[in-house]
Amino acid sequence: MSRLSKKTPVLQRKNRSGKNGAVAPSRSHCAPVELRIEKMVQGGDGMARLPDGRVCFVQGALPGELCRVELTFQKKDFTRGRVVSVVEPSPDRVAPRCPLYGKCGGCSLQHLDSQKQAEYMARVERENFRRLAHAELPDDFVIHVGSAWGYRNRARVVPQFGRSGECSGFAFREQESNALIPFENCPVLTPALNAFLQGPARKIFAPGLSGQGRFSRSRDLSLNVFDNGKGEVSYYYRGMPGKEFEKNAVSVVEIAGRKIESDASVFFQSNLGLLPELVKSVRSAVDEGLSNGNACNDWLIDLFSGVGFFAALLQDKFKRVTTVERDEGCLKHADVNLSVSGSGNTAVENVSAPAEEWLADHVVNIPATLIVDPPRTGLPGEALDAIVRSSVKRLIYVSCDPVTLARDYAKLAMAGFKLERAEGFAFYPQTPHLEMLFILTR
Ligand SMILES: C[S@@+](CC[C@H](N)C(=O)[O-])C[C@H]1O[C@@H](n2cnc3c(N)ncnc32)[C@H](O)[C@@H]1O
Repeated sequence: MSRLSKKTPVLQRKNRSGKNGAVAPSRSHCAPVELRIEKMVQGGDGMARLPDGRVCFVQGALPGELCRVELTFQKKDFTRGRVVSVVEPSPDRVAPRCPLYGKCGGCSLQHLDSQKQAEYMARVERENFRRLAHAELPDDFVIHVGSAWGYRNRARVVPQFGRSGECSGFAFREQESNALIPFENCPVLTPALNAFLQGPARKIFAPGLSGQGRFSRSRDLSLNVFDNGKGEVSYYYRGMPGKEFEKNAVSVVEIAGRKIESDASVFFQSNLGLLPELVKSVRSAVDEGLSNGNACNDWLIDLFSGVGFFAALLQDKFKRVTTVERDEGCLKHADVNLSVSGSGNTAVENVSAPAEEWLADHVVNIPATLIVDPPRTGLPGEALDAIVRSSVKRLIYVSCDPVTLARDYAKLAMAGFKLERAEGFAFYPQTPHLEMLFILTR
């Protein structure tokens, strides 16, 4: 991978002015300032201090670097900036591989050597945990790493149409601004997804079909694509007719020797290459609890269960299994996954409900094994309260947001839970996102 010269292209981040009443200086009025980057913070920005003492979060900057920074957002207590040029680059800086770096907003860590990303993230998470949870991650905290590119097996894209109505390609929707960023080949998507989007996917939105009024050309139209790990791509768009759904949206993934059914409209993990590592760690956490008496095999509760992914892989160890998932589209798959994968000796109950409501309504009065895998927002307060009130002594918390995980941990720790093990999983290389696993006991 090539190292970067001082002329390396830098991020062209959109101005974040207007939020929180902050004033964004116009570029012509604000000369760039030279800043030494102290460290990387949550979200991947570099942190520096302005001469007046205010903190500046600099996108695209690495620890140790001296950068010329244009301020894009200013408040009384902190500022944001973007790198105009790198005066003294870090030895870990590399040239971003994707031509859309800085425009798409998706892979904002491409300027950091892939081999070093886990090391930097581990440092960020240790500090994040100290700051938010006032506790230390265990000394043996590790981040499991897989492929740095071509790993992402799931995406949502927006079709683009040419003058004569033909689908001419696809775009990503930028999270912050909702702007559409057209792309040809995305280097983090699996080769099968790129090939699908460059060919067959364009026919889904063929003019003949759209002429019949099947598709609204609104900017809301989007396509979910999913590669099941064998290069077989399923897809979903809103309004897909039932027959087409059964044929083209439903898929089967093989993980750890089990077949798991899902479809492209619902949640599924998006790094199938590294997923077996997470499954292995969750399994061993469950086994440990069953063998040391911290949990009993009477009941496994899988909350935020999607298509029943974890429960299906673990059900043979338990007499009773309950999965709880809010998205009704997951339920039919959970029914399939937990009937075909089990030996038949387990009582299975798949529930479609908000996890916090189910927990509040059901008294968990035995030391059941509890797995939670909430969305980025973390555990709702009612769910945390119900866990604290329950007899659960072993909580397996899978998280896709270390910030909400740290917040939830702080509350659980006050109620007597201890952090027995913490592991990270680099599910999203080139981005600052990280999957985490906490084993909590009391
Ligand atoms: C990160 S995914 C985990 C899914 C599953 N554990 C897996 O590995 O495939 C989070 C899931 O929680 C569901 N969800 C979000 N909020 C929920 C709530 N309040 N109650 C129940 N499920 C919820 C989402 O629909 C999604 O399927």
